[in-house]
Amino acid sequence: MNAPAPKTIYLKDYQVPDYLIDTTDLNVDIHDGYTLVSCMLALRRNPAAKQAATELTLQGADLELVSLSLDGRLLEEGDYTFGEESLTIFNTPETFTLITITKIKPESNTSLEGLYRSRTMYCTQCEAEGFRKITYYLDRPDVMSEFTTKVIADKKYPVLLSNGNLIEQGDAGEERHYAIWHDPFKKPAYLFALVAGDLAHIEDSFSTSSGRAVTLRIFVEPKDLDKCDHAMASLKHAMRWDEEVYGREYDLDIFMIVAVDDFNMGAMENKGLNIFNTSCVLAKPETTTDVGFQRVEGVVAHEYFHNWSGNRVTCRDWFQLSLKEGFTVYRDSEFSADMGSRTVKRVEDVTLLRTLQFAEDAGPMAHPIRPESYIEISNFYTMTVYEKGAEVIRMLANLLGKENFRKGTDLYFDRHDGQAVTTEDFVTALADASGRDLSQFKRWYSQAGTPRLDVTDYYDEDAQTYSLTIKQSCPPTPECQNKLPFHIPIAMGLLGSAGDLPLYLQGSQPDFETSDNTHRVLELTDAEQTFVFERVQEKPVPSLLRGFSAPVKLNYAYSTRDLILLMSRDSDGFSRWEASQQLGLQAISAAMAAYQQERSLDGFSLSAQLVDAYRRVLQDASLDQAMVAYMLTLPSEAYISELADVIDVEAIHYSRQAVRKALANALADDFTRIYQSYDHRQPYAATADAIATRSLKNVALAYLMLIHDEGSIRACEQQYRHGNNMTDVMAALTQLVNSEAPLAQEYSLAALADFFGRWQHESLVVNQWLSVQAGCQLPDTLSRVRALLQHSAYDGKNPNKIRSLIGAFCNGNAINFHSGNGEGYAFLADQIIQLNRQNPQIASRLLTPLTKWKKYDHVRQQLMKAQLERIRAEPELSKDVFEVVSKSLA
Ligand code: ARG
Ligand code: ZN
Repeated sequence: MNAPAPKTIYLKDYQVPDYLIDTTDLNVDIHDGYTLVSCMLALRRNPAAKQAATELTLQGADLELVSLSLDGRLLEEGDYTFGEESLTIFNTPETFTLITITKIKPESNTSLEGLYRSRTMYCTQCEAEGFRKITYYLDRPDVMSEFTTKVIADKKYPVLLSNGNLIEQGDAGEERHYAIWHDPFKKPAYLFALVAGDLAHIEDSFSTSSGRAVTLRIFVEPKDLDKCDHAMASLKHAMRWDEEVYGREYDLDIFMIVAVDDFNMGAMENKGLNIFNTSCVLAKPETTTDVGFQRVEGVVAHEYFHNWSGNRVTCRDWFQLSLKEGFTVYRDSEFSADMGSRTVKRVEDVTLLRTLQFAEDAGPMAHPIRPESYIEISNFYTMTVYEKGAEVIRMLANLLGKENFRKGTDLYFDRHDGQAVTTEDFVTALADASGRDLSQFKRWYSQAGTPRLDVTDYYDEDAQTYSLTIKQSCPPTPECQNKLPFHIPIAMGLLGSAGDLPLYLQGSQPDFETSDNTHRVLELTDAEQTFVFERVQEKPVPSLLRGFSAPVKLNYAYSTRDLILLMSRDSDGFSRWEASQQLGLQAISAAMAAYQQERSLDGFSLSAQLVDAYRRVLQDASLDQAMVAYMLTLPSEAYISELADVIDVEAIHYSRQAVRKALANALADDFTRIYQSYDHRQPYAATADAIATRSLKNVALAYLMLIHDEGSIRACEQQYRHGNNMTDVMAALTQLVNSEAPLAQEYSLAALADFFGRWQHESLVVNQWLSVQAGCQLPDTLSRVRALLQHSAYDGKNPNKIRSLIGAFCNGNAINFHSGNGEGYAFLADQIIQLNRQNPQIASRLLTPLTKWKKYDHVRQQLMKAQLERIRAEPELSKDVFEVVSKSLA
């Protein structure tokens, strides 16, 4: 029989802790095969608690209790009792000192939460609830304590690190040594970190705005020492940016980053000691793609920014996760925009949001950015909490304007420094500082689902008025059937035949944020509102939701001509891109209609009007090359699927492919010109400009490869062989692997073998090799993936390997994963069942594609559901997997 269902935790049940922990003194004694943790806590009844508590319940999981003493008295059976993942001590006084000694086994900890071993080092991951796997503790973010940590280990682990400042180190006899770290800032246990290993490091320093010198160190395995410079440069940029843009200075004498190969997530912001997945730190041109470089810059900044948005001001409880994550994603996204191109960054963020987050918001795991309940909090490190959370902060920033937003964040940091607070506190600080009423806006925190805007318009030629009527609605989600209207900022303009028109909105002053009066932000607060513009001399085309000013789906019946005008003339770069995507969607929809009737796309062609519009983009020298690349990239299968009511896997795949082939043929000359004018011998640079031209050139290559001419295939193979950077090498390899042309297939086999031979000792490069194969759109990819599971390069315990192979296949290869016979689903279920006990967080994350079963045709629905049911029937389901499977089947 299955164990009783794990219990649900509700926000409404929040209570302040009974006890507080003033100081935490840890002694972590690492031996081969086991670690002894002695933990001394100075406890005190919480004056804010409703009743004076007389017992104390601490959380603990997978711990062996060696001894327990209270104020020096050894506790015995009867003084305490064990619960499920907890320990309750009876008859506890007002204040006392508790010493627990526990034994743990980091070597066999495969969950990668708590203290575990990764390759040759020991490291920790405590967020959200991993600290309880190290010792018994009040493992909740509103219990903040001053930590002192002594790490003792064999000298074969020369580097011993923890949070804060090193205060002492020395010999511990028998080839052992120790280090004592003290963190002067009170923090919750989730920000605790410890590392012991044989690590090399690079060092730099940073002088803060008030003139303090901070030592910066990045620790890696010695073999990776040549891949740290980009992370270090990114860190220094981030530190300066946070001073300039938010007035936030770093607060310790040292800031450390450690790179770890086995890591469930991207990285972790532990105070003064960030721990990173190697994939988010290491970068060099020969091994890392442009996307990889940008990811390192973004994640390094993200974790650094948490020092204020997360650590100095932290979360009261885990329902408030978006308080730190949404805000910090917004901060890192603005940072990246300032380091590179603002419009390009916006396009990338919106693309991610509209595919993955919108899909999440429409599925069984939909939740507001501040969830009301959860079974396993690890399941709520989601696109919604992170990405939609960031969009909500972005809307606030835009509604308040630059100056007031800064006043608001200053007040927030000032008012709540050293506290554990709520999203409500954040919004209140912004409202107080700006004088704006944000009460309706707060619904963004409590209502899930993607709002939909339906826009209609009317032009009155005689009166020269133009009215826009906007209706908002939001589909029901598991937590809420009927939504109240949101407060939605809609940035917009009106286009005449010659471009932007001046705006005279009835009943309002011109928008002084823009000097030329061609741009404004409409604030939609009702279910339906009409905005009337005066002195409009021609029927305009509305440019709506500029910069994607709100995370909503907008419907307005644009004609092809309207879209072409927007694509070429809109003053907002984002809107131009968006118009290109809408045009692409129109073409793909036409192809899909044909495919669904005929099950064939022979003779499919594009209108001359459309081809000309794309050609003008390719020939427009005034455009950022990265924007040209993105405008020429059709909406992804994932985005088309998100928009569809019922996902027709084959129709989407073959129609998109047909449109791509038609564009390739029609624009072959332009693609050839772009490809051939690129100088492949230029030295690599990860600058925005260099990345832009490289990406456009590789988009051109991808199109040319669809033509199947020998010249292009040979050029592609040359690029694979002689590329002086991983971006070009991978771009070429991806094209060879995905091409149906026999010559390309021949090259691809040789290239894959060559690639592995060349890079087998670089784990992160091997991951790319796995992904490119798992992503192959041609038939038989599943057998290839199965074979790769047995390959010496694969490691079923390493999350990066799992993501690169299984994740890439199930999330990035719809045509194969969703193959009609259901073998992709059974394959994924097998993997999840195997991972369920080994690493519940990863198992649960892998489930995502199966949770979307309701969007597919009847046959696929049954096949997907059957696999979910098979997983649900497994004995000993982890809370993580249980929650996602049961909600998906509910
Ligand atoms: N706070 C980390 C970040 O920077 C992520 C931690 C994720 N932990 C987890 N258990 N899911 O976003
Ligand atoms: Zn974060």
